[in-house]
Amino acid sequence: MKLGPLPILFGFSLHLLQIPYSLAESCSTIPSGYSFSGSSALLPDPFTFINGTKVTTKDAWACRREEISALFQSYELGPLPPPVESVTATVSLGRLNIVVSAQGKTLSFAPSIRLPSGNGPFAAIIALGGASVPIPNNVALITLNNEEIAATDPRGRGKFFDFFDRGQKTGGLLAWSWAVSRIMDALEELGPTTTKINPDRVGVTGCSRNGKGAFISGAFDSRIRLTLPQEAGSGGMGCWRIVAEMKKNGTKVEDATQIINGDQWFSADFSKYVNDLGKLPLDHHLLAGLVAPRGLLVIENSGIDYLGPVSTYGCASAGRLIYTALSSERHMGFAQVAHGSSHCQLPASLRGDVTAYIDWWLLDKSTGANIFKTDKIYNFHLGRWVNWTVPILA
Ligand SMILES: *[C@@H]1O[C@H](CO)[C@@H](O)[C@H](O)[C@H]1NC(C)=O
Ligand SMILES: *[C@@H]1O[C@H](CO)[C@@H](O)[C@H](O)[C@H]1NC(C)=O
Ligand SMILES: *[C@@H]1O[C@H](CO)[C@@H](O)[C@H](O)[C@H]1NC(C)=O
Repeated sequence: MKLGPLPILFGFSLHLLQIPYSLAESCSTIPSGYSFSGSSALLPDPFTFINGTKVTTKDAWACRREEISALFQSYELGPLPPPVESVTATVSLGRLNIVVSAQGKTLSFAPSIRLPSGNGPFAAIIALGGASVPIPNNVALITLNNEEIAATDPRGRGKFFDFFDRGQKTGGLLAWSWAVSRIMDALEELGPTTTKINPDRVGVTGCSRNGKGAFISGAFDSRIRLTLPQEAGSGGMGCWRIVAEMKKNGTKVEDATQIINGDQWFSADFSKYVNDLGKLPLDHHLLAGLVAPRGLLVIENSGIDYLGPVSTYGCASAGRLIYTALSSERHMGFAQVAHGSSHCQLPASLRGDVTAYIDWWLLDKSTGANIFKTDKIYNFHLGRWVNWTVPILA
């Protein structure tokens, strides 16, 4: 097969592909002057719009999901940039060469592609920084050098910020996820004949900071079928409110106040809320809600306090209630064990869980799995954090 240059061009319509439901345009936006008054001891209600109306149907959830996405951008991650004018892509020598243009400027990046042998089309996993979960040998691996897109430190450095004049307010995690979306654009436009990759069977993974980025990528692009964040801790499956209580209790956990001072993963605006979490209209159970009902397997490590084990477990328990409301509880898995291996080395005991989700979501080899487990016994009571009820959305 010829893998020569094959430029493609497309415009604004692509942006709409990222909106999962057709009703999104009729949803209301965040009113100006809006401020949330909740509690730092209660996770915000996923099923109530900010105007107070309850979410009772799947169609209404589609709007609420848009609202939650807007809240994440405005309070924590910074804004997604406007749609780009064109994305052109070619495949050559094991790389996907992507050129994004707008207003006379270009941004080029070239993730590596490792293809299985054979003709495909193959499922693929996009790895931020590199994969540290086992990639089956019949699944392609696309590796994104995300630090080149947006540096963890200092703020505003990287190709993303060179390209978008007003990208400055966007935090690194959303910039990384924006690049993942451009990879999806390229895979869709080139198509399986050129890439040997089936764009309808793509997963995303990463570990630690890159696990936070993988989670955000899955949350912000509904073309991603399976999201596999590994040992992402706070900023991934950890809820800021539960993390704050762990910290108060004396655990050395990565909390919001610390994250906003050290690293540039979040918007600078997030600093207004890190010491006043009751004013934050979101927490990370809602991040799982943005991925729902697509495949999500959260891999955590109960042996590292810094990752906030109680917080990821508790927050996942709350987030899974959104999957429950969408009658898709098993689509979200959570697997947490302590292991002697170092941070980001997947322990042998979790390999089967990762394989089960890949078989199910990317390889169509099974019809399901039901994974929600930790090797710790926590004194955690969901009812202390959740004062809302879970509707069954029809
Ligand atoms: C609240 O917002 C939702 C979503 O935009 C909308 O469907 C609903 O009608 C609004 N409720 C009121 C009372 O305006
Ligand atoms: C849940 O707690 C919030 C924040 O304190 C409060 O505004 C809300 O009314 C409570 N909801 C219920 C159902 O009690
Ligand atoms: C903090 O400590 C209190 C008192 O022991 C306990 O009830 C609570 O569950 C702890 N919180 C977390 C998040 O571990």
